[in-house]
Amino acid sequence: MKSNRRNFLKLSGLSGLSIAGGGIFKNFSQANKEENMLKMLYRKPPMQRFNMCGYAAPKLDVVRIGIIGLGERGFGHLNGLIKIEGVEIKALCDIRPEFANKAKKSLEGTAHNPKVYSGDQESWKKLCDHNDIDVVYIATPWDMHTPMAIYAMEHDKHACVEVPAAITIEECWKLVETSERTRKYCRMLENACYGSLVTVNMARQGFFGEIVHGEGGYIHNLVARYLFNKNQYWDMWRLKQNAMRNGDLYPTHGLGPLCQIMDINRGNNLDYMVSMSTDDFTLGAKAKELASKDDFFKPYADQTYGGNMTTSIIRTKKGQTIKLGHDTSSPNIHSAWHKIVGSKGTKFESPRQISNGGESWLSEQEVISLEKKYEPAIITKVGELARKAGGHGGIDFLQNWFLVDSLRNGLPFDQDVYDAALWSSIAPLSEWSIANYSSSIKVPDFTYGSWITNKPFDISLEKGGNTNIKI
Ligand SMILES: NC(=O)c1ccc[n+]([C@@H]2O[C@H](COP(=O)([O-])OP(=O)(O)OC[C@H]3O[C@@H](n4cnc5c(N)ncnc54)[C@H](O)[C@@H]3O)[C@@H](O)[C@H]2O)c1
Repeated sequence: MKSNRRNFLKLSGLSGLSIAGGGIFKNFSQANKEENMLKMLYRKPPMQRFNMCGYAAPKLDVVRIGIIGLGERGFGHLNGLIKIEGVEIKALCDIRPEFANKAKKSLEGTAHNPKVYSGDQESWKKLCDHNDIDVVYIATPWDMHTPMAIYAMEHDKHACVEVPAAITIEECWKLVETSERTRKYCRMLENACYGSLVTVNMARQGFFGEIVHGEGGYIHNLVARYLFNKNQYWDMWRLKQNAMRNGDLYPTHGLGPLCQIMDINRGNNLDYMVSMSTDDFTLGAKAKELASKDDFFKPYADQTYGGNMTTSIIRTKKGQTIKLGHDTSSPNIHSAWHKIVGSKGTKFESPRQISNGGESWLSEQEVISLEKKYEPAIITKVGELARKAGGHGGIDFLQNWFLVDSLRNGLPFDQDVYDAALWSSIAPLSEWSIANYSSSIKVPDFTYGSWITNKPFDISLEKGGNTNIKI
């Protein structure tokens, strides 16, 4: 019995953390209830049912959208989507009626008159049951993403799901299987990719030569403003994630752009990885400090939190490396950086610096002219308007515009279900590696080998780009 328990903890990645099973954590699904983690990783799935990479769903003149989760992020999507031609907001759902109603009220005076669903844990299913919705946006806490996306796809809707799309390997596989079976898109809303389209273009045009190494990550101190703020996240969901997991919980902002630059899932793939985490030096202490003044925080004071800084190194099938960082809980300066190192050149984003193989960075003027030279059509067409529309400097708007334009023109998405699964899978894989003395672990191939022949996504806008913007 004892050894079974030890094995479970080892495989589940929870060995370094206390398992928060009761009280406020009772109904909160744990990321790592994966007793069969290794089985899920190494299982040989049957043949791929249908290759969703490059798949173009029938075109939609009008894109009818329902949004689940109208907290900070869902409300932002609503604001961006209504500025795009051909979008109809048909339904809104939030478990908190005041949030759903506030979103509906914000549409007064527009052509949108959505139905509102609210009040209980399952109201969102009524939104997915609608027969006049094409796409369901999902902007809820992480543990709800996969169940909601699967239900939406099974009810004939495309699912556009916030990052990360899944929190366990099993969920990643379920997303792949459901998208292939239903032929519905499962599109993760990885907006960071829209900040690196110039770099994607530079890579494709050979500026970097052979890509050798990529670096990126998510460094954002969420402690005061977000994690311990009673008025921010619904039901303190993100603090609970930190209390129950130890790993790179939010890998996709760093990884997504690097994967697009390195053609991962489309001619290249991730192979294996290792992760290492520091101890927690801040969250437990903060919880105890707050609990001494406010009983609300008492349940959080008893928890063991995941480490502050997590570093992962991933090797690709082409022999390159990717280094990812994650830190949301120490007073580290905010950074969502990307670095690409190639045999002929290097690029660093935030602050933007380029070298063409020499020993120093190019001048600012040279960088500006290179960026102009490699600007892809999407940026030329809507980049300026997107900046005006806002949302992380315009990338949120660019993403929603590209998504709607692809649907209206019957074009494949730039991110597919294999990207959603692969990029999200790094979180549970990092947890496993950390819980096993930073052992190396194989990254699953969610494409069933199709990555070898899958083609890179199109950034030329040759076949689309005709969706207008209302600003
Ligand atoms: N891509 C980005 O840049 C970015 C930025 C911020 C957040 N996010 C992601 O967006 C998601 C939401 O984050 P947020 O900051 O908006 O959190 P939030 O807590 O502000 O919003 C989540 C909303 O979901 C609602 N909700 C909870 N359970 C529900 C249920 N059963 N049915 C319907 N609604 C329910 C809550 O009431 C809340 O309004 C997360 O996955 C987060 O990682 C992404």
